[in-house]
Amino acid sequence: MASPVNVTVTGAAGQIGYALLFRIASGQLLGPDTPVNLKLLEIEPALKAAEGTALELTDCAFPLLHGIEITADLAEGFNGTNVALLVGARPRTKGMERADLLEANGGIFKPQGNAINDHAADDIKVLVVGNPANTNALIAQAAAPDVPKERFTAMTRLDQNRAYAQLANKLAVPVTAIKKLAIWGNHSPSMFPNLFHAEVNGQNAADAVDDMAWYENEYLPRVGKRGAEIIDARGASSAASAANAAIDHVYDWVNGTNGEWVSMAVPSDGSYGVPEGIISSFPVTTANGEYEIVQGLEINEFSQGKIDATVAELVGERDAVKDLGLV
Ligand code: NAI
Repeated sequence: MASPVNVTVTGAAGQIGYALLFRIASGQLLGPDTPVNLKLLEIEPALKAAEGTALELTDCAFPLLHGIEITADLAEGFNGTNVALLVGARPRTKGMERADLLEANGGIFKPQGNAINDHAADDIKVLVVGNPANTNALIAQAAAPDVPKERFTAMTRLDQNRAYAQLANKLAVPVTAIKKLAIWGNHSPSMFPNLFHAEVNGQNAADAVDDMAWYENEYLPRVGKRGAEIIDARGASSAASAANAAIDHVYDWVNGTNGEWVSMAVPSDGSYGVPEGIISSFPVTTANGEYEIVQGLEINEFSQGKIDATVAELVGERDAVKDLGLV
């Protein structure tokens, strides 16, 4: 059996952490042949709750779980880490301005980026889940100059999964009938699920739907505002579905997609007019632990307008954290 992979989860005592850790320990993050050492990184007041989760993890007697560490110390939490899931973040509270939110998250993701730079393993892969995820990833990346920039990614896989499920529902097909349905841009209501390159049982998805009014006025807002719909219904934000998407994201990054497209927010190489360096969602394929942005797609006017709008939001966030000296 392979040697254990060190996986750090920040915000381990939170609701996504609780939905995520058991699945990682059972082998769903990396695959059934890869043992894991879990590192639970929390702030001091939440350490006791994280310890409680660790007791339960122990009680599952997972064959692949080789060790659990719990800490509030960043150097310890990222020491030798191969995969970092940055989940803990500062939520927006009532009346909070965007600049204040970005600054508060800078206080979390900058020191975490520094610690990853100084202590993580050479093959470190980072997934940022904590919101605003794309820009938090940019902050952590800027604080880790010795780590290749492409190792910092943010999660739009939940948006992709939502987009698949809503389209499958509309067309009364199983989700497995759908391919190449990717999210572009920011993990925010401005994101763009692109049906024009997607396929349903081999047919173009926009043609299969054949209803631009539904696409524009129902589908896009439904997928974009699904997070708010969940909060309304549950009284808490999505947790199990977010954890599930984090598993999907990392599993595919590590194990490859065999040519299938998946959505990942990754540093732009300038493709499709997205300014270089912005961490934006694209369709990607992965192989041998690396991803590539799908190239050469024709973007129609409708899509370009949507992509430009969501990317403008990301550029605004980037400029705001630049003003704060975070990137
Ligand atoms: P939660 O509030 O239940 O848990 C957050 C945890 O992070 C808490 O235990 C807290 O103690 C911890 N934490 C805060 N600051 C920390 C720090 N500096 N270091 C380590 N831990 C720290 O929140 P929940 O529901 O687990 O969500 C976590 C984040 O994920 C939120 O920012 C949420 O907006 C985001 N999210 C992102 C999604 C996406 O698709 N990208 C989907 C759903 C949620």
